[in-house]
Amino acid sequence: MKLTQRPLTHRPRRLRKSSALRELIAETHLSTSELIWPVFVTGGKNSQEKINSMPGVFRFSPDLLAKEIGAAMKLGIHSFALFPAIESKLKDSHGRESLNPNGLLPTTVKMLKDKFPDANIITDVALDPYSSDGHDGIVRNGEILNDETVEVLAQMAVTQARAGADLVAPSDMMDGRVGAIRRALDQEGFTQVGIMAYSAKYASAFYGPFRDALQSAPKFGDKKTYQMDFRNSREAVREAQLDIREGADIVMVKPALSYLDVIQTLKAHVKVPVAAYNVSGEYAMIKAAEAAGMLDGTKAMVESLYSIKRAGADMILTYFAVEMAKYLR
Ligand code: PBG
Repeated sequence: MKLTQRPLTHRPRRLRKSSALRELIAETHLSTSELIWPVFVTGGKNSQEKINSMPGVFRFSPDLLAKEIGAAMKLGIHSFALFPAIESKLKDSHGRESLNPNGLLPTTVKMLKDKFPDANIITDVALDPYSSDGHDGIVRNGEILNDETVEVLAQMAVTQARAGADLVAPSDMMDGRVGAIRRALDQEGFTQVGIMAYSAKYASAFYGPFRDALQSAPKFGDKKTYQMDFRNSREAVREAQLDIREGADIVMVKPALSYLDVIQTLKAHVKVPVAAYNVSGEYAMIKAAEAAGMLDGTKAMVESLYSIKRAGADMILTYFAVEMAKYLR
C-alpha cells in the first residue's frame, strides 16, 4: 500500500471511471418518444414568424407547420401540442372564436391528421388565445367566472375532438372542467379522445415568452385566482386527484424546472402517467445565457430534460424537442 493510499472500502468514483461504466449504471433514460413538441400556428400561407423572446421558435402557417411536423416525425417525435395565434380582431370577451369549427386550430388539426394519421395531436383547451381580456376564462366585473367558463371549455373540447384531436389538454385551471369535458366528449361519441389535464399549473413568471408568442398576456391583473400558488405542493396532489376522479387520463405539472419536487410528489401519489411542461421561460433562459456566452446551451438543455425525467415525468413537453431528438440520435 502506498503511503498516500487511504484505507477506503467505499469509493463511489470506481463506477464513474469510464463512459462505459457510467452508461452501465445510469438510472435515468430519456427517449425521443417521450417528448412532446409544443408548436405555434398562425394564419396565412408560407409564413414563419420569429418570436423575440424565444430564439429558434416560430409561429408557422399551417402549410409550413406540416413540413416541420413531417421532419420531426422523421426524428422520432410523434406528439405535438398545438397553440393557435388568433388575430386580435377575432378575440372577444367570451372567446367565441374557440368554438368556430372552421377556425385556425380545428382546420389545422384536420389537415395534420389527414397528412400524419399516426401523429398524436394534442390541443389546448383554454380561452386565453381567443380572449380579448387575455384570461383563461370569461371575465365579468374583473372576476374570472368558473362555471360559465367550464361550459365553453366543454364545447371547445368537442370542437377540437371533431377536428381530430387525439388528446385535449385543458390548461385553464377552472374547477370541474375535466369532468365537464369528459361528459361532453362522451355525449358526442368521442369516448376515445383522452384528456391530458394541466392539473398542477402554477401562476408563473416563466410563461412570459409564451404570452409574447400568442399575444395573450392578461389585459389586467394576473392569473392567481385560478392558477396555483408556487408556495404549495400538497395542493398539487389534491388538484391531480380531483382531475383523475373527473376522468383525466394524464396529469401535468407546469412549469417543470422550479417544480421538480412537485413532479416527484405527484408521481408518488397517482397511478396515471405524469407529464411535465418545460415552459417557454425555461427555454428562453437557456437560449439567452447561451447567446450571451455564459454557458453551453446544449449541455444545459440535456441536463434540464434529464432532471425532469429523473424527478418522475413520464413525458415532457418542451420547445427543445427537435434539438433534443437530434442530440439523442
Ligand atoms: C394558457 C397556457 C399558457 C401556457 C400554456 N397554455 C400560458 C398561461 O397560462 O398564461 C404556457 C406555456 C409556456 O410558457 O411555455 N392556457
